[in-house]
Amino acid sequence: MKVENSAELSRRIEELKREKNAVILAHYYTTPEVQAVADYLGDSLALSVRAQSVDADIILFAGVHFMAETAKVLCPEKKVLIPCPEAGCSLAESCDAAEFAAFKAQHPGHTVVSYVNTTVGVKALTDICCTSSNALKVVESIPADQPVIFAPDRNLGAYIQKLTGRQNMVLWNGACHVHEEFSLEKLLKLKQEHPEAKVVAHPECRAYILEAADYVGSTAGILEYCGRSDAQAFIVVTESGILAEMKKRYPAKTFIPAPPDDETCACNNCRYMKMVTLENICACLEREAPEIVLDEEVRRSAERSILNMIAIK
Ligand code: 13P
Ligand code: SF4
Repeated sequence: MKVENSAELSRRIEELKREKNAVILAHYYTTPEVQAVADYLGDSLALSVRAQSVDADIILFAGVHFMAETAKVLCPEKKVLIPCPEAGCSLAESCDAAEFAAFKAQHPGHTVVSYVNTTVGVKALTDICCTSSNALKVVESIPADQPVIFAPDRNLGAYIQKLTGRQNMVLWNGACHVHEEFSLEKLLKLKQEHPEAKVVAHPECRAYILEAADYVGSTAGILEYCGRSDAQAFIVVTESGILAEMKKRYPAKTFIPAPPDDETCACNNCRYMKMVTLENICACLEREAPEIVLDEEVRRSAERSILNMIAIK
């Protein structure tokens, strides 16, 4: 019954895309059935860049709220739809724009670097955005003697601080509920059980997890690494949605998801990303709602910070 429903919904979604000249951008953390109806699948950097060049009247963003907002910031003339506006992000929510403005005022003269996992209000207070793919390049583009505020992810910030050796970086104290939950003890046990496997981790994980990893990188970086590495098995310390794309790209290799501390909570699943379903995508395309609508002044300020990021090659 479920399979028939999914097949029927997918067929209807394809029909609606054609009728309405719409495209679906989806993040790797969405469910495999949502990924299957996407025209473009990517990490947050790839999807923001892709949004700029899509030839369509409507962009439906199958991902969390800040990602759809980013697409709208970059494509104000297009209708940007979000199938589940309640799909937030614990990291973006850990940085309230008014509190961030006060934090910024306490650190005058700092260049503000914010991870793309922020609300449009925080992006508007930012000089240069970054994603986990380009955070190092973005911070390195700022003169070494220029103090920096890095927000909102304290783990990514600390990792970049370690790589650059930069002392003049102030970190906002935010984190992602998925990436903070991985257990070092369980990871080390898995490593013992699979000594041939390489450990790949997202930089939103805590420092002790990153120290145990063979490769640290963004979602796209991890996918590429698993392809180019000679290893045949990988312990994956990031959100579990990425496993679908890993298995699709490298069917001969083995991917072992690292367990969170509390294995009953399924916390290596981003509960927000899993709120996007074929049902709400189909309903959203039918109704052309909910739509992302932004205040133009805020949008322009946020756009400047994203374009500053994209300009850094
Ligand atoms: P990427 O920048 O790797 O796509 O990660 C986004 C994200 O939400 C990680 O939790
Ligand atoms: Fe946000 Fe974490 Fe989900 Fe990524 S995995 S969207 S950072 S809550």
